[in-house]
Amino acid sequence: MRVLTADHPLIQHKLTYLRDKRTDSPTFRRLAEELMTLLAYEATREVRIEPFEIDTPVARTTGIKLSNPKPLVVPILRAGLGMLEGMVRMLPSAEVGFLGMQRNEVTLEATTYANRLPDDLTNRQVFVLDPMLATGGSMVDAIRFLVERGAKDITAVTLLAAPEGIAFMQEQLADVAPPITLVTGSIDERLNEHGYIVPGLGDAGDRLYGVV
Ligand code: URA
Repeated sequence: MRVLTADHPLIQHKLTYLRDKRTDSPTFRRLAEELMTLLAYEATREVRIEPFEIDTPVARTTGIKLSNPKPLVVPILRAGLGMLEGMVRMLPSAEVGFLGMQRNEVTLEATTYANRLPDDLTNRQVFVLDPMLATGGSMVDAIRFLVERGAKDITAVTLLAAPEGIAFMQEQLADVAPPITLVTGSIDERLNEHGYIVPGLGDAGDRLYGVV
């Protein structure tokens, strides 16, 4: 698995405000969306393209366009929804699927409670969005789910990642054939005993949408 940390100063600036506990929900939502737009630039460096001939007002030339089938963007519910707008703004022709994963706060294990995805993902390039890579349980389950349906290559995009989650992904996905890339805004210090990323930003879902 390839791991890319997007250390652009604008990303780090916005992440700092996102981490600040004084940042309110509307500002948090806006920052998460803006951050995703910047991360999308890194995450789509290897988006699949093909040559495309056009006429400019002056001459015929060959440019490029996104290949078919178009990429699939999959936010993991609920917190991944906070990154969706930022991603599809950069990739408006992408299709969007949804995966609902919930972690048990005691065992920290992830289960799938909803899925709205095409059955057949053969040859699809997939971008999975989840702001926090903590234990890595939901991300590993989501990626396995997508690989079983034929996804061709998968890029996981997170705002923050814990070293423990990255190590878990590397170990659990070592046998997976399609290439896997992780793009993250920061690799933080560690997970605490409650499964929160340190220093992190708290519960991303709650900070985006309030406690439900
Ligand atoms: N999920 C979150 O929202 N925050 C963490 O720190 C870890 C998992």
